[in-house]
Amino acid sequence: MVKLPTMEKQMILGESSLLAQALEQLSLIAPLNKPVLIVGERGTGKELIAERLHFLSLRWQKPFLKINCAALSENLLESSLFGHEAGAFTGAIKSSRGFFERAHEGTLFLDELGTTTSRVQEKLLRVIEYGEFERLGGQQTITADVRIIAATNADLVSLTARGKFRADLLDRLAFDVINLPPLRYRPEDIPILAEHFAISMSRELGRELFMGFSPQADATLLHHQWPGNIRELKNVVQRSIYRQQEADLPIQHIVLDPFITPWPSPSVIHAQAADQAVEDVPPSNMTEPSPPTPLTLKQQISEFEIAGLKKSLVEHYYHQKNTAKALGLTYHQLRAYLKKYPQLLNRT
Ligand SMILES: Nc1ncnc2c1ncn2[C@@H]1O[C@H](COP(=O)(O)OP(=O)(O)OP(=O)(O)O)[C@@H](O)[C@H]1O
Ligand SMILES: [Mg+2]
Repeated sequence: MVKLPTMEKQMILGESSLLAQALEQLSLIAPLNKPVLIVGERGTGKELIAERLHFLSLRWQKPFLKINCAALSENLLESSLFGHEAGAFTGAIKSSRGFFERAHEGTLFLDELGTTTSRVQEKLLRVIEYGEFERLGGQQTITADVRIIAATNADLVSLTARGKFRADLLDRLAFDVINLPPLRYRPEDIPILAEHFAISMSRELGRELFMGFSPQADATLLHHQWPGNIRELKNVVQRSIYRQQEADLPIQHIVLDPFITPWPSPSVIHAQAADQAVEDVPPSNMTEPSPPTPLTLKQQISEFEIAGLKKSLVEHYYHQKNTAKALGLTYHQLRAYLKKYPQLLNRT
């Protein structure tokens, strides 16, 4: 049970060594006046890390502007980044400063950079290299001192190999690359993040207490592969909290997929019926299914061992020393079991 604190601010949570390494790299690179590329699967915290980078840099009191390159058409992105003069295009009644001018002496976060067109990439290259550009429809060269942080979940190296991204731009952007680890590679962070999101949702719902997760709910959170990473975890936890009306009980059911429906669509029913029809036709040589063979004593012992070991591994977040201790085994005995049953380390 957790008594809810009253304030919340955007924190970078997690105790895994993979996250610690990324944060360590972040604090080393933050004070340098160099471009940084942040890469990671969707929802791994790229934007959060970009903000932290700015606030740890010497530019922290200057503007931090963000632009999502994938959300704008080529023309709009160009005029948003570099500004435009009056009359540059239909509807450009007044001149306008772009993000590069507005972020002068600060940081510009170019999010989802992987999809930008070659024209925009060429202009970015110039501004990164020389700090120079012109507004759309303008003649005058403008200089701006802007640090660039770019983020993408696209594989820029392979886009470059396929001619979809400029190699010279990648070289300049990637002075160094911060690789954010997917959540499934840092399961130690799952309970910490889950509790944080649960508390914030409980507070949003006006509840005074959060009673934690049931052991089954904990195991579900730990075993899921989290393709949408921390954003997915946040949604799943918050959904599970609000769906459970009994605030005085631990969360029992984790709703991983809100699209799952008990009412399949007609096409699914049709396909299932067709499959069933095929299954219903017995092949001529088919015999009655034989009754399940009873397990040998050895098999029963193995199943028992696997179940007990699995439960304890999950409860201790796969921390092998703690698992061994809880089971009254030495570390080497546990290692021997893991060698005997390698499937225990498969977290799916
Ligand atoms: N370490 C963390 N601690 C707490 N919250 C986090 C952490 N990492 C990410 N988040 C939260 O997870 C959500 C997704 O993070 P963010 O938007 O930074 O990811 P992203 O990598 O930019 O995702 P996308 O590729 O989809 O744009 C946000 O709500 C963010 O605050
Ligand atoms: Mg993002």
